[in-house]
Amino acid sequence: METIRDEGIDRAPLEGKRVAIIGYGNQGRAQALNLNDSGIDVVVGLRDGSPSLHGAQADGIATASLAEAAASADIVMLLAPDEVLAAIYRVVEPHCREGAALGFSHGLAIRFGFIAPRPDLDVFMLAPKGPGTALRSLYLEGKGMVALYAVAQDKSGQAEAIALAYGQALGCGRAGILPSTFAEECEADLFNENAVVWGAVPEILIAGFDTLVAAGVSDEVAYMECIGELKLIAELIEARGIAGMREAISNTAELGAVLGGPRIVDDGVRARMKAVLEDIRDGRFSELLSDEEASAYPRLRAAREKARSLRVERARKKLEG
Ligand SMILES: NC(=O)c1ccc[n+]([C@@H]2O[C@H](COP(=O)([O-])OP(=O)(O)OC[C@H]3O[C@@H](n4cnc5c(N)ncnc54)[C@H](OP(=O)(O)O)[C@@H]3O)[C@@H](O)[C@H]2O)c1
Repeated sequence: METIRDEGIDRAPLEGKRVAIIGYGNQGRAQALNLNDSGIDVVVGLRDGSPSLHGAQADGIATASLAEAAASADIVMLLAPDEVLAAIYRVVEPHCREGAALGFSHGLAIRFGFIAPRPDLDVFMLAPKGPGTALRSLYLEGKGMVALYAVAQDKSGQAEAIALAYGQALGCGRAGILPSTFAEECEADLFNENAVVWGAVPEILIAGFDTLVAAGVSDEVAYMECIGELKLIAELIEARGIAGMREAISNTAELGAVLGGPRIVDDGVRARMKAVLEDIRDGRFSELLSDEEASAYPRLRAAREKARSLRVERARKKLEG
Protein backbone atom coordinates (compact mmCIF):
# COMPACT_ATOMS: atom_id res chain seq x y z
CA MET A 1 0.00 0.00 0.00
CA GLU A 2 1.38 3.38 -0.99
CA THR A 3 1.85 5.97 1.75
CA ILE A 4 1.47 9.43 0.26
CA ARG A 5 3.51 12.29 1.71
CA ASP A 6 3.70 16.03 1.15
CA GLU A 7 6.12 15.81 -1.77
CA GLY A 8 3.63 13.64 -3.71
CA ILE A 9 0.64 15.92 -3.14
CA ASP A 10 -0.52 18.77 -5.37
CA ARG A 11 -1.87 21.75 -3.39
CA ALA A 12 -3.64 23.20 -6.43
CA PRO A 13 -7.06 21.57 -5.81
CA LEU A 14 -7.46 23.75 -2.68
CA GLU A 15 -6.00 26.95 -4.08
CA GLY A 16 -8.57 29.74 -4.21
CA LYS A 17 -11.14 27.42 -2.63
CA ARG A 18 -13.16 27.97 0.51
CA VAL A 19 -13.70 25.21 3.07
CA ALA A 20 -16.73 25.15 5.36
CA ILE A 21 -16.07 23.20 8.55
CA ILE A 22 -19.40 22.14 10.00
CA GLY A 23 -18.97 21.81 13.78
CA TYR A 24 -16.26 23.20 16.04
CA GLY A 25 -15.60 20.33 18.42
CA ASN A 26 -12.74 17.88 18.71
CA GLN A 27 -11.93 17.59 14.99
CA GLY A 28 -13.67 20.75 13.78
CA ARG A 29 -11.51 23.13 15.78
CA ALA A 30 -8.23 21.36 15.00
CA GLN A 31 -8.98 21.04 11.30
CA ALA A 32 -10.18 24.64 10.98
CA LEU A 33 -7.06 25.98 12.71
CA ASN A 34 -4.66 23.79 10.73
CA LEU A 35 -6.31 24.74 7.43
CA ASN A 36 -6.24 28.40 8.41
CA ASP A 37 -2.55 28.22 9.29
CA SER A 38 -1.94 26.48 5.96
CA GLY A 39 -3.38 29.53 4.19
CA ILE A 40 -6.76 28.00 3.30
CA ASP A 41 -9.89 30.18 3.39
CA VAL A 42 -12.00 28.62 6.17
CA VAL A 43 -15.45 29.33 7.54
CA VAL A 44 -16.98 27.41 10.43
CA GLY A 45 -20.68 26.60 10.17
CA LEU A 46 -22.53 26.47 13.49
CA ARG A 47 -26.13 25.90 14.54
CA ASP A 48 -28.18 28.75 16.00
CA GLY A 49 -27.20 29.51 19.60
CA SER A 50 -24.06 27.39 19.35
CA PRO A 51 -21.88 27.50 22.49
CA SER A 52 -18.85 27.21 20.17
CA LEU A 53 -19.41 30.56 18.47
CA HIS A 54 -17.28 32.60 20.86
CA GLY A 55 -14.48 30.03 20.86
CA ALA A 56 -14.25 30.05 17.08
CA GLN A 57 -14.32 33.83 16.98
CA ALA A 58 -11.68 34.05 19.71
CA ASP A 59 -9.53 31.73 17.59
CA GLY A 60 -9.86 34.21 14.72
CA ILE A 61 -11.89 31.89 12.49
CA ALA A 62 -14.80 33.21 10.39
CA THR A 63 -18.19 31.82 11.42
CA ALA A 64 -21.59 31.55 9.76
CA SER A 65 -24.84 29.65 10.03
CA LEU A 66 -24.83 26.08 8.70
CA ALA A 67 -26.68 27.19 5.56
CA GLU A 68 -24.49 30.25 4.89
CA ALA A 69 -21.27 28.34 5.46
CA ALA A 70 -22.32 25.58 3.04
CA ALA A 71 -23.53 28.07 0.45
CA SER A 72 -20.23 29.97 0.48
CA ALA A 73 -17.92 26.95 0.23
CA ASP A 74 -16.34 24.74 -2.39
CA ILE A 75 -15.70 22.01 0.17
CA VAL A 76 -18.10 21.23 3.02
CA MET A 77 -16.56 19.13 5.77
CA LEU A 78 -19.03 17.47 8.18
CA LEU A 79 -17.32 17.37 11.59
CA ALA A 80 -20.07 16.82 14.13
CA PRO A 81 -20.90 13.55 15.95
CA ASP A 82 -21.57 10.76 13.43
CA GLU A 83 -25.07 10.07 14.71
CA VAL A 84 -26.23 13.65 13.97
CA LEU A 85 -24.55 14.05 10.57
CA ALA A 86 -27.66 12.95 8.64
CA ALA A 87 -29.78 15.65 10.32
CA ILE A 88 -27.08 18.25 9.63
CA TYR A 89 -26.76 17.11 6.03
CA ARG A 90 -30.50 17.61 5.54
CA VAL A 91 -30.01 21.25 6.57
CA VAL A 92 -26.90 21.96 4.50
CA GLU A 93 -27.61 19.96 1.34
CA PRO A 94 -30.02 22.46 -0.26
CA HIS A 95 -27.32 25.13 0.17
CA CYS A 96 -24.34 23.18 -1.15
CA ARG A 97 -23.13 24.57 -4.45
CA GLU A 98 -23.55 22.49 -7.60
CA GLY A 99 -20.38 20.37 -7.93
CA ALA A 100 -19.05 21.13 -4.44
CA ALA A 101 -17.14 18.51 -2.45
CA LEU A 102 -18.53 16.93 0.70
CA GLY A 103 -15.95 15.68 3.19
CA PHE A 104 -15.98 13.34 6.18
CA SER A 105 -13.41 12.31 8.78
CA HIS A 106 -15.03 8.93 9.40
CA GLY A 107 -16.72 6.51 7.03
CA LEU A 108 -19.79 5.64 9.12
CA ALA A 109 -22.42 7.99 7.68
CA ILE A 110 -21.72 6.81 4.15
CA ARG A 111 -20.94 3.15 4.92
CA PHE A 112 -24.24 2.66 6.74
CA GLY A 113 -26.34 4.87 4.49
CA PHE A 114 -27.13 7.58 7.03
CA ILE A 115 -26.40 10.02 4.22
CA ALA A 116 -27.04 9.56 0.49
CA PRO A 117 -25.13 12.51 -1.01
CA ARG A 118 -26.53 14.49 -3.92
CA PRO A 119 -25.19 12.98 -7.15
CA ASP A 120 -23.49 16.18 -8.33
CA LEU A 121 -21.21 16.32 -5.26
CA ASP A 122 -17.73 14.88 -4.90
CA VAL A 123 -17.60 12.85 -1.69
CA PHE A 124 -14.32 12.15 0.06
CA MET A 125 -12.99 11.09 3.43
CA LEU A 126 -9.88 12.34 5.16
CA ALA A 127 -9.74 10.58 8.51
CA PRO A 128 -6.89 11.60 10.83
CA LYS A 129 -6.05 8.64 13.06
CA GLY A 130 -6.25 10.36 16.40
CA PRO A 131 -7.98 13.10 18.34
CA GLY A 132 -8.18 16.72 17.23
CA THR A 133 -6.02 17.95 20.09
CA ALA A 134 -3.13 15.79 18.85
CA LEU A 135 -3.83 16.72 15.20
CA ARG A 136 -3.41 20.36 16.22
CA SER A 137 -0.39 19.97 18.51
CA LEU A 138 1.48 17.82 15.97
CA TYR A 139 0.81 20.44 13.29
CA LEU A 140 2.18 23.18 15.55
CA GLU A 141 5.31 21.08 16.23
CA GLY A 142 5.91 20.83 12.48
CA LYS A 143 4.89 17.17 12.51
CA GLY A 144 1.69 15.52 11.36
CA MET A 145 -0.83 12.81 12.12
CA VAL A 146 -1.25 9.74 9.93
CA ALA A 147 -4.56 9.73 8.06
CA LEU A 148 -6.64 7.55 5.75
CA TYR A 149 -8.37 8.89 2.67
CA ALA A 150 -11.08 7.55 0.39
CA VAL A 151 -13.48 8.65 -2.32
CA ALA A 152 -17.15 7.63 -2.45
CA GLN A 153 -18.28 9.88 -5.34
CA ASP A 154 -16.04 11.42 -7.95
CA LYS A 155 -18.24 13.65 -10.04
CA SER A 156 -15.50 16.11 -10.96
CA GLY A 157 -12.67 13.63 -11.43
CA GLN A 158 -10.85 15.67 -8.76
CA ALA A 159 -12.17 14.06 -5.57
CA GLU A 160 -8.98 12.13 -4.78
CA ALA A 161 -6.81 15.18 -5.45
CA ILE A 162 -9.05 17.28 -3.18
CA ALA A 163 -8.86 14.69 -0.39
CA LEU A 164 -5.06 14.59 -0.57
CA ALA A 165 -4.68 18.37 -0.75
CA TYR A 166 -7.03 18.64 2.23
CA GLY A 167 -4.95 16.11 4.16
CA GLN A 168 -1.80 18.00 3.30
CA ALA A 169 -3.30 21.27 4.59
CA LEU A 170 -4.08 19.47 7.88
CA GLY A 171 -0.41 18.49 8.15
CA CYS A 172 -1.15 14.79 7.63
CA GLY A 173 1.11 14.59 4.57
CA ARG A 174 4.10 15.15 6.87
CA ALA A 175 3.37 11.77 8.50
CA GLY A 176 1.70 9.89 5.66
CA ILE A 177 -1.75 9.54 4.10
CA LEU A 178 -2.90 6.04 3.18
CA PRO A 179 -5.59 4.98 0.72
CA SER A 180 -8.63 3.21 2.15
CA THR A 181 -12.39 3.04 1.58
CA PHE A 182 -15.29 4.39 3.61
CA ALA A 183 -16.22 0.80 4.52
CA GLU A 184 -12.73 -0.31 5.51
CA GLU A 185 -11.97 2.78 7.60
CA CYS A 186 -15.35 2.67 9.28
CA GLU A 187 -15.37 -1.03 10.09
CA ALA A 188 -11.76 -1.14 11.31
CA ASP A 189 -12.24 2.02 13.40
CA LEU A 190 -15.46 0.74 15.00
CA PHE A 191 -13.85 -2.64 15.59
CA ASN A 192 -10.92 -1.09 17.43
CA GLU A 193 -13.29 1.06 19.50
CA ASN A 194 -15.57 -1.87 20.33
CA ALA A 195 -13.14 -4.71 20.76
CA VAL A 196 -9.53 -3.60 21.11
CA VAL A 197 -7.92 -0.42 22.44
CA TRP A 198 -10.99 1.49 23.62
CA GLY A 199 -13.31 -1.44 24.33
CA ALA A 200 -11.25 -4.33 25.66
CA VAL A 201 -8.21 -2.61 27.19
CA PRO A 202 -10.09 -0.61 29.89
CA GLU A 203 -12.14 -3.72 30.76
CA ILE A 204 -9.02 -5.84 31.17
CA LEU A 205 -7.40 -3.16 33.34
CA ILE A 206 -10.47 -3.09 35.60
CA ALA A 207 -10.65 -6.90 35.72
CA GLY A 208 -6.97 -7.07 36.71
CA PHE A 209 -7.45 -4.44 39.42
CA ASP A 210 -10.54 -6.25 40.78
CA THR A 211 -8.70 -9.61 40.81
CA LEU A 212 -5.79 -8.27 42.86
CA VAL A 213 -8.03 -6.35 45.27
CA ALA A 214 -10.25 -9.41 45.80
CA ALA A 215 -7.06 -11.36 46.65
CA GLY A 216 -6.14 -8.86 49.38
CA VAL A 217 -3.83 -6.45 47.55
CA SER A 218 -4.31 -2.79 48.50
CA ASP A 219 -6.23 -0.57 46.10
CA GLU A 220 -3.20 1.64 45.60
CA VAL A 221 -0.80 -1.16 44.70
CA ALA A 222 -3.38 -2.85 42.46
CA TYR A 223 -3.93 0.46 40.66
CA MET A 224 -0.22 1.13 40.19
CA GLU A 225 0.42 -2.37 38.85
CA CYS A 226 -2.58 -2.83 36.58
CA ILE A 227 -3.27 0.67 35.34
CA GLY A 228 -0.30 2.89 36.19
CA GLU A 229 2.00 1.08 33.75
CA LEU A 230 -0.24 1.44 30.71
CA LYS A 231 1.50 4.56 29.45
CA LEU A 232 4.89 2.85 29.67
CA ILE A 233 3.87 -0.07 27.48
CA ALA A 234 2.04 2.23 25.03
CA GLU A 235 5.20 4.33 24.63
CA LEU A 236 7.40 1.27 24.24
CA ILE A 237 5.13 -0.26 21.59
CA GLU A 238 4.94 3.04 19.73
CA ALA A 239 8.71 3.46 19.79
CA ARG A 240 9.84 -0.15 19.23
CA GLY A 241 6.87 -2.29 18.17
CA ILE A 242 5.54 -5.29 20.12
CA ALA A 243 8.68 -7.40 19.56
CA GLY A 244 10.93 -4.51 20.60
CA MET A 245 8.80 -3.82 23.68
CA ARG A 246 9.21 -7.47 24.77
CA GLU A 247 12.98 -7.22 24.36
CA ALA A 248 13.11 -3.98 26.35
CA ILE A 249 11.54 -5.39 29.51
CA SER A 250 13.12 -7.72 32.09
CA ASN A 251 13.28 -11.47 31.42
CA THR A 252 10.85 -11.96 34.31
CA ALA A 253 8.31 -9.59 32.79
CA GLU A 254 8.81 -11.06 29.33
CA LEU A 255 8.34 -14.66 30.49
CA GLY A 256 5.21 -13.64 32.44
CA ALA A 257 3.86 -11.88 29.37
CA VAL A 258 4.45 -14.75 26.94
CA LEU A 259 3.03 -17.37 29.33
CA GLY A 260 0.16 -15.37 30.80
CA GLY A 261 -1.01 -13.27 27.82
CA PRO A 262 -2.26 -16.18 25.69
CA ARG A 263 -4.05 -17.70 28.73
CA ILE A 264 -6.15 -14.52 28.89
CA VAL A 265 -6.51 -13.75 25.18
CA ASP A 266 -7.41 -17.22 23.97
CA ASP A 267 -9.50 -18.54 21.07
CA GLY A 268 -12.67 -17.58 22.95
CA VAL A 269 -11.59 -13.94 22.88
CA ARG A 270 -10.83 -14.19 19.17
CA ALA A 271 -14.25 -15.74 18.51
CA ARG A 272 -15.98 -12.93 20.41
CA MET A 273 -13.92 -10.34 18.53
CA LYS A 274 -15.19 -11.90 15.30
CA ALA A 275 -18.77 -11.68 16.60
CA VAL A 276 -18.25 -7.99 17.42
CA LEU A 277 -16.97 -7.40 13.89
CA GLU A 278 -20.06 -9.12 12.48
CA ASP A 279 -22.32 -6.86 14.58
CA ILE A 280 -20.49 -3.89 13.11
CA ARG A 281 -20.60 -5.12 9.52
CA ASP A 282 -24.27 -6.04 9.53
CA GLY A 283 -25.23 -2.59 10.85
CA ARG A 284 -26.36 -3.62 14.35
CA PHE A 285 -23.87 -1.31 16.02
CA SER A 286 -24.75 1.71 13.87
CA GLU A 287 -28.47 1.09 14.56
CA LEU A 288 -27.73 1.17 18.29
CA LEU A 289 -25.81 4.42 17.81
CA SER A 290 -28.82 5.99 16.06
CA ASP A 291 -31.17 4.69 18.76
CA GLU A 292 -28.95 6.18 21.44
CA GLU A 293 -29.10 9.60 19.83
CA ALA A 294 -32.86 9.36 19.29
CA SER A 295 -33.49 8.55 22.96
CA ALA A 296 -31.00 11.04 24.49
CA TYR A 297 -28.14 8.58 25.05
CA PRO A 298 -29.49 6.36 27.92
CA ARG A 299 -26.74 3.71 27.55
CA LEU A 300 -23.95 6.26 27.47
CA ARG A 301 -25.30 8.20 30.43
CA ALA A 302 -25.68 5.01 32.51
CA ALA A 303 -22.21 3.76 31.55
CA ARG A 304 -20.59 7.09 32.47
CA GLU A 305 -22.33 7.06 35.85
CA LYS A 306 -21.23 3.47 36.48
CA ALA A 307 -17.61 4.16 35.48
CA ARG A 308 -17.38 7.16 37.82
CA SER A 309 -18.51 5.01 40.77
CA LEU A 310 -16.03 2.14 40.26
CA ARG A 311 -13.61 1.25 43.06
CA VAL A 312 -10.75 1.65 40.60
CA GLU A 313 -11.68 5.34 40.24
CA ARG A 314 -11.59 5.82 44.00
CA ALA A 315 -8.13 4.21 44.00
CA ARG A 316 -6.96 6.70 41.38
CA LYS A 317 -8.21 9.60 43.50
CA LYS A 318 -6.47 8.21 46.61
CA LEU A 319 -3.19 8.03 44.70
CA GLU A 320 -3.61 11.56 43.39
CA GLY A 321 -3.87 12.67 47.01
N1 LIG B 1 -12.88 12.85 18.13
C1 LIG B 1 -11.92 12.17 17.51
O1 LIG B 1 -10.91 11.82 18.11
C2 LIG B 1 -12.04 11.81 16.05
C3 LIG B 1 -10.93 11.27 15.39
C4 LIG B 1 -11.03 11.01 14.02
C5 LIG B 1 -12.23 11.23 13.37
N2 LIG B 1 -13.30 11.71 14.06
C6 LIG B 1 -14.54 11.96 13.31
O2 LIG B 1 -14.68 13.37 13.18
C7 LIG B 1 -16.08 13.72 13.14
C8 LIG B 1 -16.35 14.72 14.22
O3 LIG B 1 -16.14 14.10 15.49
P1 LIG B 1 -15.79 14.98 16.78
O4 LIG B 1 -15.37 14.02 17.85
O5 LIG B 1 -14.91 16.11 16.40
O6 LIG B 1 -17.23 15.55 17.12
P2 LIG B 1 -17.62 16.48 18.33
O7 LIG B 1 -16.43 17.08 18.98
O8 LIG B 1 -18.56 15.75 19.24
O9 LIG B 1 -18.45 17.63 17.55
C9 LIG B 1 -18.95 18.69 18.28
C10 LIG B 1 -19.45 19.74 17.30
O10 LIG B 1 -20.59 19.23 16.62
C11 LIG B 1 -21.62 20.19 16.69
N3 LIG B 1 -22.95 19.56 16.72
C12 LIG B 1 -23.37 18.56 17.54
N4 LIG B 1 -24.67 18.28 17.28
C13 LIG B 1 -25.06 19.15 16.32
C14 LIG B 1 -26.28 19.37 15.63
N5 LIG B 1 -27.36 18.61 15.88
N6 LIG B 1 -26.34 20.36 14.71
C15 LIG B 1 -25.25 21.11 14.44
N7 LIG B 1 -24.04 20.95 15.04
C16 LIG B 1 -23.96 19.97 15.97
C17 LIG B 1 -21.37 20.87 18.02
O11 LIG B 1 -22.07 22.08 17.96
P3 LIG B 1 -22.13 23.11 19.19
O12 LIG B 1 -20.77 23.68 19.23
O13 LIG B 1 -23.19 24.04 18.72
O14 LIG B 1 -22.50 22.29 20.40
C18 LIG B 1 -19.86 20.99 18.04
O15 LIG B 1 -19.44 22.14 17.37
C19 LIG B 1 -16.84 12.39 13.32
O16 LIG B 1 -17.16 11.90 12.05
C20 LIG B 1 -15.82 11.50 14.00
O17 LIG B 1 -16.04 10.12 13.80
C21 LIG B 1 -13.23 12.03 15.37
